[in-house]
Amino acid sequence: GRLPALSSIRGVPDFEAVARHSMNVSDYAYYRTGAAGEFAYRRSLEIFSQVKLRPRILVDVANISLDTTVFGYKFSAPFFIAPAARAGLTHPRAELNLAEAAGAENILYAPSLSSTKKMEEIAAVAAPGQVMFHQLYVSRNKTKFASDVKRIEAAGFKGIFVTVDNPIHGARTRESRYGWPSTTDSDPKFTWESYQELRNMTSLPVIPKGIQSVEDALLAIKYGAPGIYISNHGARQLDTSQSPLEIAVEIHENAPEVFEKTFVFADGGVRYGTDVLKLMALGVKAVGLGRPFMYSNLYGRSGVEHLIDLLKEEIALDAANMGIADLEQLDARWLNFGRLAAF
Ligand code: FNR
Repeated sequence: GRLPALSSIRGVPDFEAVARHSMNVSDYAYYRTGAAGEFAYRRSLEIFSQVKLRPRILVDVANISLDTTVFGYKFSAPFFIAPAARAGLTHPRAELNLAEAAGAENILYAPSLSSTKKMEEIAAVAAPGQVMFHQLYVSRNKTKFASDVKRIEAAGFKGIFVTVDNPIHGARTRESRYGWPSTTDSDPKFTWESYQELRNMTSLPVIPKGIQSVEDALLAIKYGAPGIYISNHGARQLDTSQSPLEIAVEIHENAPEVFEKTFVFADGGVRYGTDVLKLMALGVKAVGLGRPFMYSNLYGRSGVEHLIDLLKEEIALDAANMGIADLEQLDARWLNFGRLAAF
């Protein structure tokens, strides 16, 4: 259908409303689905409003920098495009738009292994010096698995998010109504020992994506993970799993050293500048968005860039209103999450 003018899109959630009204119901269901009753999906959005901000006043906030360093690579913002499959459902150029917008705006993008376009095609549209990571699914087929790792390396991606939260496909009622395949190739026998073997297969940093408890965050460190990625897969795998914000609070309260010992990525339900700042105040260094970027691609590359601009603008306004000029100053003292902890 005809899309509203891009200039009328004033916030990240607006893209979801556009998608709901303009995509066909089956494709929209695939992007939008959460597992089962979608309690975890709704919670991942709502939980952010329960954490309150404690702004400080009379601080010089004339210059706000959003610059972020990830594994030594410099980016213009602390948020990134999370891996999400099948970008071709909204635009024929699919992931190419996401890669180009990320390059133009200098933010991190990590394409999915289940992308519409081949990873080599995505890598080919990178801007000079653009750094991208790549997502990896574990596979039962060990020849394919080894070849996926080699291809990611050979195509020039600089890091691997290996997805560890889906030994099998989630119970995705909403998408299954439209006949989306419910099987996956993921190897249900993949363990921490397999993770170590994977790390020996490549010189790239391999970051487990889908850490959902303080126990597993600590195990990841024990097994030498150079980073961890807090996520419940956009609530698509296990309904009533903790929202990523709650997981970050759990780690903060029980093993805060995790945030010092390893680089922490997180995603799930992030839609506002304040969502990004709240996760960062707990120690998260880079925050991902999945669905909003997929929806923004209805407009092609300019839609993706518009989303990036909106979120950068919002984070800068929010930081200024919190009395923070340098995001490195963020820590848990800027939050009041007492009620959340008592939940
Ligand atoms: C995903 N996600 C995902 N994750 C992954 O590791 N590999 C994948 O191929 C996909 N595919 C995928 C498709 C679609 C349509 C969605 C919405 C999500 C999960 C994704 O990386 C991320 O964890 C969530 O999307 C974050 O939640 P929000 O931002 O969508 O709320």
